[in-house]
Amino acid sequence: MIKTVGIIGSGTMGSGIAQVAATAGCTVKVYDTNQAALEKSKASLEKILTRLIEKGRIDAAEKSRIQENITHVQVLADLADADLTIEAIVENLEIKQKVFKELETYISENAIIASNTSSLSIASIASALQKPERCIGIHFFNPAPLMKLVEVIPAVQTSNEVLETAVQTIADWKKVVAVAKDTPGFIVNRVARPFYGESLRIYEEGVADFATIDWSLKTIGGFRMGPFELMDFIGNDVNYTVTETVFKAFYYDPRYRPSFTQKRLSEAGYLGRKTGKGYYSYTEDAEKPTPTEDKVLAQQIFDRVLVMLINEAADALFLNIASAADIDNAMTKGVNYPKGLLSWADEKGIAWCVEKLDTLYDEYHEDRYRCSPLLRKMNKENKTFF
Ligand SMILES: NC(=O)c1ccc[n+]([C@@H]2O[C@H](COP(=O)([O-])OP(=O)(O)OC[C@H]3O[C@@H](n4cnc5c(N)ncnc54)[C@H](O)[C@@H]3O)[C@@H](O)[C@H]2O)c1
Repeated sequence: MIKTVGIIGSGTMGSGIAQVAATAGCTVKVYDTNQAALEKSKASLEKILTRLIEKGRIDAAEKSRIQENITHVQVLADLADADLTIEAIVENLEIKQKVFKELETYISENAIIASNTSSLSIASIASALQKPERCIGIHFFNPAPLMKLVEVIPAVQTSNEVLETAVQTIADWKKVVAVAKDTPGFIVNRVARPFYGESLRIYEEGVADFATIDWSLKTIGGFRMGPFELMDFIGNDVNYTVTETVFKAFYYDPRYRPSFTQKRLSEAGYLGRKTGKGYYSYTEDAEKPTPTEDKVLAQQIFDRVLVMLINEAADALFLNIASAADIDNAMTKGVNYPKGLLSWADEKGIAWCVEKLDTLYDEYHEDRYRCSPLLRKMNKENKTFF
């Protein structure tokens, strides 16, 4: 049973994870090298909890309880009594390894060390430890207190006991756990790539503009945000880097190839909302472009993006990245998709998926459009995912 939790890094993710653990009743110690970051983290928690009181979600006593559960420290050795430490510092392997090596000299024999990394392999982080079997990936989504999903990623070195404790702890924290293999992008950041990539490709081919593609996915697909709105929200620099990292990590599989459109926007500093300009303009007087509300075109755009997403989800299942239920949960609970992609495939029909992918492949002759062997096999055997 995890009682004391250490958090390394009090930025966006570390602060959110600390709030989750403290709300669940754990004693939490948040460590950061930067005093200003610790102060900011404290202030933002105060603001968030005050807002929760205003909304009637918690009372003043609950706010005090959560805040009393958290202490902020500037010395790593202060995390010595943590049963579980979750790291959320800068995305750099050498720095993470260095901090973990030092942490291991303070903590107890059975303490667990976890990383919230989005793109590094857990095996490479664990390899720096004396006891690599204690290391695991625990990947929250932003904002951690709101997003239900947490991916738990055992490395090849991780012991079963550590995996079980991590899964149990995250479930105790009232999150939905999806266990994923230690492969690039884990589940969500891998399966979601075509939402951006195929939409960018459709734009680059001149099929439709940003507004029309966004409108298609929202109106026909029921997505809360269109791909271009979402990329502007995430930041084109951040989103481009994830795509490029996944592409390289998959030995340049064309399925994950980044787009020049996004690269140029990123280079130009058109990062999205945070810079006031991305695919759209966010200045006060900016007019939102109107989409071409053509239902037939919108259906074609939606079908093409959806089938590429389904193909990615099916291939993740084919390669045992996670279970079918976890793959579907990951997309609905981690990135708010209106439906799980494998359930969506069942609804559309596996034959429909295979036929759409084969049509794309016949048109382009690009490996990017290859149909997952699993879909093909299921189609022959008349099977469904659920
Ligand atoms: N932001 C996201 O949407 C998101 C989502 C999931 C996972 N992640 C991952 O979480 C991690 C943190 O991301 P973030 O967005 O919270 O970053 P952030 O920049 O908001 O915060 C990082 C914090 O770590 C501190 N820090 C840096 N080096 C340190 C060190 N050596 N020792 C102690 N503290 C140190 C910094 O002072 C800063 O406060 C990264 O690995 C990232 O890939 C981010």
